[in-house]
Amino acid sequence: MTVKILQFGTTGQLATELTRQAATHDVALTALSRADCDLADPAACARAVASHRPDLVIIAAAYTAVDLAETERDLARTVNALAPAAIAGACQAAGAALVNVSTDYVFDGAGGAPYAEEAEPHPLNVYGATKLEGERLVAAACARSLSIRTSWVVSAHGKNFVKTMLRVAAAGNPLKVVDDQSGRPTSAADLAGFILGQAPRLAAAKTGDPAFGLLHFANSGEVTWKGFAEAIFAEALGDKAPVVGGQKTADYVTPARRPLRATMDLGRLQAVFGVTPRPWQAALSEILAELKAG
Ligand SMILES: NC(=O)c1ccc[n+]([C@@H]2O[C@H](COP(=O)([O-])OP(=O)(O)OC[C@H]3O[C@@H](n4cnc5c(N)ncnc54)[C@H](OP(=O)(O)O)[C@@H]3O)[C@@H](O)[C@H]2O)c1
Repeated sequence: MTVKILQFGTTGQLATELTRQAATHDVALTALSRADCDLADPAACARAVASHRPDLVIIAAAYTAVDLAETERDLARTVNALAPAAIAGACQAAGAALVNVSTDYVFDGAGGAPYAEEAEPHPLNVYGATKLEGERLVAAACARSLSIRTSWVVSAHGKNFVKTMLRVAAAGNPLKVVDDQSGRPTSAADLAGFILGQAPRLAAAKTGDPAFGLLHFANSGEVTWKGFAEAIFAEALGDKAPVVGGQKTADYVTPARRPLRATMDLGRLQAVFGVTPRPWQAALSEILAELKAG
């Protein structure tokens, strides 16, 4: 059965990959841009679900400006918590399943990593707090919902660390990258492929199915931002790779605090869905090849 999907978001990394890959899955996907439906208007989002009558809704848009969220708290909360809550309520009423996307920044990274889904969250910043509230409101409003926490999302398009590092290196300036924060990079393409691959199961699953609830998804392996930058340069620039200096988080002051190690455990992904993500290095190679091919 073709799964009828309604997706919020068209331009972001994940939204772009979902739209690109939809043709290779048995899904009929309608994606709404910000102009079609602004997540700053939760009631409009709920109406969109009610009028489209989808089997599955994917929230692929979010307020992702981690530092700006510190000063735009209300907007971040509306987009990341209140809109997903309204969408979840509409999904429950329409009998649709829901995939909401969250973040490793629900954890403070102060100890206990790799964090399992049931580990106690404690966000250090407004962005993480709004995403955590979103997870909780979604779970309360829609029994057939899955909130997928992901981390360090990268792809060949949009704004992300891979593209930023290549741009900075091209400018030829000396580079210093944080070397005391570590995590798991995640290919937006791999996450999109996972969501679309699970769409038939999620659309058909009944309340109480283990497919619903909370899930951690990232590529396997772990690296610091500095190590990630070095891997990007080694593969993309070879012997022209710049030397990367290290920097401590404490010396790199940003409006939002970030966890030192919010690395997520991926055991539930394997146990419930039988999926073991490929190593982040393989995903990075694919992204760099796509960038090189233009
Ligand atoms: N990026 C990461 O490293 C990371 C890490 C952990 C978790 N996540 C989560 O993963 C998910 C996907 O992230 P991503 O990297 O694909 O995001 P992204 O590339 O930053 O894109 C965010 C998208 O949200 C849209 N958006 C923002 N405000 C909106 C609004 N008021 N109404 C409608 N659309 C709005 C943007 O649309 P416009 O183009 O119109 O601005 C854009 O398409 C998000 O839930 C994010 O929180 C991301």
